[in-house]
Amino acid sequence: MTATLPRPVLLDCDPGTDDALALWLALAAPEIDLRLVTVAGGNVGLARTLPNALALVGLAGGRVPVVAGADRPLLGRFRDEAAVHGADGLGGVVLPPGPAATPGLAMDAIRAALRAAAPDSVTLVGLGPATNFALALAAEPALRDRVAEIVLMTGALGEGNWSAAAEFNAAMDPEALAILLACGRPVTLATLDLTAQAFVTPARIEALRAAPGGACLRAAADILASVPPSRRFGFRGVALHDPCAVAWLLAPALFTARAVAVAVVLDGPDRGRTRIDRWGRDQGAALNGRFLETLDAEGFFALLAARLGALP
Ligand code: RIB
Ligand code: CA
Repeated sequence: MTATLPRPVLLDCDPGTDDALALWLALAAPEIDLRLVTVAGGNVGLARTLPNALALVGLAGGRVPVVAGADRPLLGRFRDEAAVHGADGLGGVVLPPGPAATPGLAMDAIRAALRAAAPDSVTLVGLGPATNFALALAAEPALRDRVAEIVLMTGALGEGNWSAAAEFNAAMDPEALAILLACGRPVTLATLDLTAQAFVTPARIEALRAAPGGACLRAAADILASVPPSRRFGFRGVALHDPCAVAWLLAPALFTARAVAVAVVLDGPDRGRTRIDRWGRDQGAALNGRFLETLDAEGFFALLAARLGALP
């Protein structure tokens, strides 16, 4: 039986407490050939998210190039989510400084990585506002043919976590999300409805802390413990968003999914709302998305502990 080759992945993030665990999960995964990490302003601004990404890669002993990207959305103004992630973006958890960033711009590095790849071979993983991937594909649309799948933590069936209508990543750059949804490649969505099932409680943090591992696993537990309990869940804990998108690539059996038509609202008070036709009611709408519907949470947290425990 031929062993499956690791899938080439380009990962864009805005670390970000949940991005931190997602990036470590990707770095620890033999199933993933992580070819590039790009960084957006997103949660706390590029001046923080870039050094955070570098420190995360450094602590994990990663060798992947990290390239700075857009520090603001395509349109509209930059807004942050420091209330969740802390002003530093990692909940006050201090990591040793990482290696230097690779010079250049994310959109150029993404295009170069896609040009060097085989057709239908690359998975784009988006964990922040989709600005960098959108800039790359808008600049060189033909490169969409190198993309096998786009996996995004973005959107929601219903209420948002940034506005009543919109989830943060979608709300921060809806035009960028619209470009990805229209590019003709399948977009897998880890929405708030999915990530709410990856529910972090004090018990799950303690289980992570008790698992065998090194500095990354210990820091991951500290980072999770820094996130203020969410009023969305009665202050009982928080949803762990970004690692769900990476876990889909590692253990799809933990999920159920359904093909959907998805669009993003660009105007008015619902700007950034993802309109997901879960039950196929809009006749004739192209099924451009894969909605991740359920998650085996116990399996997810076991995967997280095992994989992060394997890091330095
Ligand atoms: O809404 C949650 C998403 O917004 C996560 O990716 C989090 O890191 C922030 O970027
Ligand atoms: Ca993020």
